[in-house]
Amino acid sequence: MIFQPSTDSRHIPVMLMESLENLNIKNSGIYVDGTLGLGGHSEEILKKIDSGLLLGIDRDNGSIELAKKRLSNYKNFKLFHDSYKNLKNILFKLDITGVDGILLDLGLSSYQLEDNQRGFSHKHSSELDMRFDNNIDSNKADDIIKKYDLKSLTKIFRDFGEERNAYRIAKMIKESDSDINVLSITSMIDRVTPYRFRVKTYSRIFQALRIETNKELEHLENFLSDFTDLLNPGGRLVVISYHSIEDRIVKHKMKDLKKEKSIELIFKKPLIPSENEVQINKRSRSAKMRVGEKIG
Ligand SMILES: C[S@@+](CC[C@H](N)C(=O)[O-])C[C@H]1O[C@@H](n2cnc3c(N)ncnc32)[C@H](O)[C@@H]1O
Repeated sequence: MIFQPSTDSRHIPVMLMESLENLNIKNSGIYVDGTLGLGGHSEEILKKIDSGLLLGIDRDNGSIELAKKRLSNYKNFKLFHDSYKNLKNILFKLDITGVDGILLDLGLSSYQLEDNQRGFSHKHSSELDMRFDNNIDSNKADDIIKKYDLKSLTKIFRDFGEERNAYRIAKMIKESDSDINVLSITSMIDRVTPYRFRVKTYSRIFQALRIETNKELEHLENFLSDFTDLLNPGGRLVVISYHSIEDRIVKHKMKDLKKEKSIELIFKKPLIPSENEVQINKRSRSAKMRVGEKIG
């Protein structure tokens, strides 16, 4: 059955209250939601900025269309089909010299995960696409599997999936002559993975392929290299990450910036969701939030 996206494909915004508090929102401020998704965080930001402006960015056009509907009661926002790594250019074109807060809620939304055509989930048998932006002609996850050699594929599974069995899984995939799709990949994983580890292994391999397909870490590192130029003094960056690889990148960059006296860290350790939130929304269980404030 073809997936019918709608605003009912509910993605519950993660650490919503913590995001709003830590963005330190002023009614007339300019805020950026760099990972708009279905606009869950953006909608709540808009409720707090009658005379301010919200800029929402997402690489996924389908998400932007859904967010546009959700935010249709508001006028003070602009949406961009782009990567948050290009925020500098976006602000330049708008003649905006600084913003008061930037939110990055990394990873993918439930809307993308549940889409049974895009290959983000090991639960839906489909093509292995995994591109956030499926309007551009870039490698899909199945192209990566076909084009990369055994060594490169092993490295991706190890570095981006933290998968111990990376070599055996990559070898099984490279040596197979089956068509590459979600079902064939999960059955190849099954052949080299004990039953009780399978679901976790699928998740690690799918995460690795998604990160490589979208060059997610490059986009994050690129953004982190110059975001302080884009914040007004006292402006804040709030980042929610969902795996240790991303969190490590954010943690180290924020520490370096603190040493350079460019930002203040609002918390030494990352904030995590409350037990109550994790119970209501399982997706939030791995979330970690880090917050930096630009020194004025
Ligand atoms: C976890 S979801 C955000 C959900 C959103 N906060 C909400 O509550 O509806 C992450 C979103 O970030 C988008 N994304 C991932 N990498 C991106 C990038 N480099 N630039 C812009 N958007 C990106 C994905 O397409 C996805 O829609």
